[in-house]
Amino acid sequence: MRGMDAVLVSGGAGYIGSHVVKRLVEAGRPVVVMDNESTGHRETVRAVEALTGREIPYIPGDVGDGDGVRRIVEEYRVGAVMHFAAKSVVAESVRHPEVYFSENVAKGIAFFQALCEAGVSRIVLSSTAAVYGNPERVPIPEEHPVRPINPYGASKVMLEQVLGWLETTFPMRWVALRYFNAAGADPSGRLGERHDPETHLIPIVLEAALGRRERVTVFGTDYDTPDGTCIRDYIHVLDLADAHLEALAALEDGHPSAIFNVGTGLGHSVLEVIRMAEEVCGRTVPVELGARRPGDPPVLVADGGRLREIGWQPRYGLWEIVASAWAWHSGEGR
Ligand SMILES: NC(=O)c1ccc[n+]([C@@H]2O[C@H](COP(=O)([O-])OP(=O)(O)OC[C@H]3O[C@@H](n4cnc5c(N)ncnc54)[C@H](O)[C@@H]3O)[C@@H](O)[C@H]2O)c1
Repeated sequence: MRGMDAVLVSGGAGYIGSHVVKRLVEAGRPVVVMDNESTGHRETVRAVEALTGREIPYIPGDVGDGDGVRRIVEEYRVGAVMHFAAKSVVAESVRHPEVYFSENVAKGIAFFQALCEAGVSRIVLSSTAAVYGNPERVPIPEEHPVRPINPYGASKVMLEQVLGWLETTFPMRWVALRYFNAAGADPSGRLGERHDPETHLIPIVLEAALGRRERVTVFGTDYDTPDGTCIRDYIHVLDLADAHLEALAALEDGHPSAIFNVGTGLGHSVLEVIRMAEEVCGRTVPVELGARRPGDPPVLVADGGRLREIGWQPRYGLWEIVASAWAWHSGEGR
């Protein structure tokens, strides 16, 4: 291992990427960020600089630009990559599969090719629980069959497979982290989730609490769950950031390529999340009970045992997730 090799973070101006950049900088790793600002914001990286007191090299650019990627790898002596850059709105992927296959898959392959040719030997990929589709059993272990039911999930399966094949000819190893529902924010209130349109439950609930949207629609109240609403595994973005550092450390210690779920193993229903938000904010969240949406599995909860074997443990629960997100959404930081 070359000690001071930089970590290139693609999509580091986005929600999860920016929290990981902060964590890497705090751990003393040289970091370089590449982002095309399609959904991310450069100010987010500036906020990380302000919080850490460190300058972070930032390259506006697209991961599909192989020559640009090769130049960054050489100039910054990149030894490892964390690949967050992607489109990730499920409904948009159903309407425009071609965009998801060109943005996520074609550009992802061009990115990996440039990285491998330039000698990068460790890659951590943001994957997703959407690879499992409608699970046959929960909690879902990594060995569960992969049967995505939308182009977004399919695009991530393809990237995992491409990495598997690249490893057979290039001297590299990789980890795919299949995140469940990323949520929460840096406790400073200066970093957080800012998607447009927002499709994630917790920001939507908090925006309703703030009066920035009229109400929250609960999609389906007749599922076979204790309160009839869908259950998801919410993972704090800080725990997610730690998982990336653990994954990279494992690769650097010689761990073979691997796929890990990242979730707490605990599920919370939509109504539980709304009740928790009301408690945290001390406000009422206006709710409308609606019909099921096609393609929403009733329960998605991770079996996170494999990642615990390499030393990772989630530290935060739903309270901390909602409280930190509230600090961000209600505060001046955004
Ligand atoms: N948020 C979740 O709950 C969740 C769950 C599972 C997986 N993921 C995955 O995690 C990753 C990050 O998600 P996020 O929620 O932070 O999204 P985000 O949209 O906030 O971040 C993505 C970042 O990548 C950048 N980007 C997109 N395409 C690019 C390209 N071609 N070249 C360079 N930069 C590009 C965007 O500008 C943005 O800054 C994605 O790969 C997503 O699929 C997210």
